Amino acid sequence: MSVEDRGFLFADAVYEAAPAYRGRCFLIERHLARLARGLRTLRIEADATPLGDVGDELMARNDLLDAEFSVFYMQVTRGTAPRTHAFPKAPVPPTVYAFAKELVRTTPERWERGFAAITVPDQRWARADIKTTGLLPNVLAQQAAVEAEVEDAIFIREGMVQEGTHNNVFAVIGGEVTTAPATNHILHGVTRAFALELCEELGIPARERAFTVDELRGGRGDLLHRDDDRGTPHGRTGWPDRRERPPGRDHPGAVGSLPAGRRPRLNTEVRPDDGSDV
Ligand SMILES: Cc1ncc(COP(=O)(O)O)c(C=O)c1O
Repeated sequence: MSVEDRGFLFADAVYEAAPAYRGRCFLIERHLARLARGLRTLRIEADATPLGDVGDELMARNDLLDAEFSVFYMQVTRGTAPRTHAFPKAPVPPTVYAFAKELVRTTPERWERGFAAITVPDQRWARADIKTTGLLPNVLAQQAAVEAEVEDAIFIREGMVQEGTHNNVFAVIGGEVTTAPATNHILHGVTRAFALELCEELGIPARERAFTVDELRGGRGDLLHRDDDRGTPHGRTGWPDRRERPPGRDHPGAVGSLPAGRRPRLNTEVRPDDGSDV
């Protein structure tokens, strides 16, 4: 990759990461559609469609067809040109980068113990709905979480819960599974949309609405994230802020604590291996 690549110089790039189970990328069409939307919005001329086949090939070439859980990562930059902020005058080919690798799946025992998060002010730009590689605020927030010895950080904007550093946030508030609305301030997560669909399918009351940190603390939170085990969303009662020690470390989270039969299974066990969406 050139040192003049605009992804390197400006984070002038979009990316996707699709989970895969036994070498089959999960909801890949949705990831590719979001990538295509990002490319269009940023006016990067590249076709996302062929990346579906690239994912399959990478799974095979990396011996991941039998791997329980892996990830297919893809990134497209505006390409390489002498450094200047505006787009290159003459068209340059986009740079496409992709890899696949095995991930270790979190054990059910670990899920049962729950996870903790701090809250951080959301100082990101107002287009968090575009999945760009410009992730410095997310990097700093996750590092703050590491230093606070918790698992994640939740972005708060004007008192309202937005999302985690690499996941959308759900909380059960007043008996309703609640998640922030899909505005320009959050990524419109594939997992988020799928979880809402599952709630509907299972008759679990669910709502997209703005909610406050206090509501989150009073409710039971869940972070939903593609890199995690989609079967058992996690979280805990009472979300700490920066100064608090995480209380209640031992809660499996709102959705995770539903009776087993009522718990959305966010993985291939829900969408059976019928070739449709997996
Ligand atoms: C900021 C942010 N929010 C939410 C998500 C979850 O998105 P998805 O469910 O589409 O993987 C991610 C995934 O990387 C993310 O980076």
